Amino acid sequence: MERRFSKQKLLAIAEMCDVDVSLPLKQVVSEVISLLQRLQIPDASKVVDASPHQTPRQSRAPSSQRQQKTLAASKDKYQRLEQLGEKGKEGTVYLVQTDAGEQFAMKQFAKTKSEKTLAKEAALLGKAAEFGIAPKMIEYDTNNNFIVMEKLDRSLFEIMRDNGGKLNKGLQREMINIFKVLDRIQIFHADPSPLNFMVDANGKLKIIDFGFAKPIDIKMEREQGTKEVNMKFMPFGFILKMKEFVEPATFPVLLMYVSEQERAMLGIEEEKQAKLPSVSRPKKVTLKKEVEPPVASPPQRRIRIMPPVPEKRKRSVVKKSVRGKKK
Ligand SMILES: Nc1ncnc2c1ncn2[C@@H]1O[C@H](COP(=O)(O)OP(=O)(O)OP(=O)(O)O)[C@@H](O)[C@H]1O
Ligand SMILES: [Mg+2]
Repeated sequence: MERRFSKQKLLAIAEMCDVDVSLPLKQVVSEVISLLQRLQIPDASKVVDASPHQTPRQSRAPSSQRQQKTLAASKDKYQRLEQLGEKGKEGTVYLVQTDAGEQFAMKQFAKTKSEKTLAKEAALLGKAAEFGIAPKMIEYDTNNNFIVMEKLDRSLFEIMRDNGGKLNKGLQREMINIFKVLDRIQIFHADPSPLNFMVDANGKLKIIDFGFAKPIDIKMEREQGTKEVNMKFMPFGFILKMKEFVEPATFPVLLMYVSEQERAMLGIEEEKQAKLPSVSRPKKVTLKKEVEPPVASPPQRRIRIMPPVPEKRKRSVVKKSVRGKKK
């Protein structure tokens, strides 16, 4: 095969691909070539982890990672098939296909999107994806302004629309679990909308659109008086956003995480609360790192963290109100 890279570049790629660079050069070259042929998708998580708050162009990431970025940044690699969903505030998402026939979703941003905010969005998406709550991040490109990710199936908006405005309790529980995982991995999503949740091909709920997301840092924690910023704002925010279209009582599981004061803001009267069906709370959060490298590799390490014991005071609003009635 024709050699297109200098020895130095090849070694950098080899390093990136975990090829033993101490092997004879010929062997390194052949390993790299075979890996590159198989590698339709670069391991973007390495790039993301290396520079979550830096722009890739300014990044001081190791040269191997910069090389990976350059290799990955080819717009021509993806053929646009159709638009997915509505044109967003910041860009448009397309179904794209590689020469190998793999399909992904490509979020194409306007030219005005800064490198820094794009890289930040990609980094936060990538981190959430590692824990199985967001579509897998394939790669991002700050020169051509796009993020390529796993293509999901249907939005929660469509699911609710086709279900007469209802959202089943299972999906509500999955939503709560997503918020809990986000709190554990210290990402505040900040944009609760039915358009920002989608189910994957297996029907698993995922959260998309990290355009407004921020790391939960000590400053935010102090300002909000909690580390669990998603749990504080997202269930209430989601119900509030949907209020115009569906009754808050449509979301009994989410309502369990809404304070009395917020319930009053949503216009839920005691009488209505008593009528809500009894529901169980999501039991535990499983933090499961789901990294799927593009090439065969040793089994992934799974991290499981037991959830905090549910606090007694956060009992079902339904049961509470029913008890209140009996008195
Ligand atoms: N991974 C994906 N798979 C399939 N469709 C997707 C995916 N990501 C986004 N979409 C579709 O594209 C739409 C816009 O995506 P997204 O919400 O990320 O963009 P946005 O421009 O930030 O929108 P917003 O107006 O909410 O800021 C989504 O509502 C969804 O329909
Ligand atoms: Mg959106």
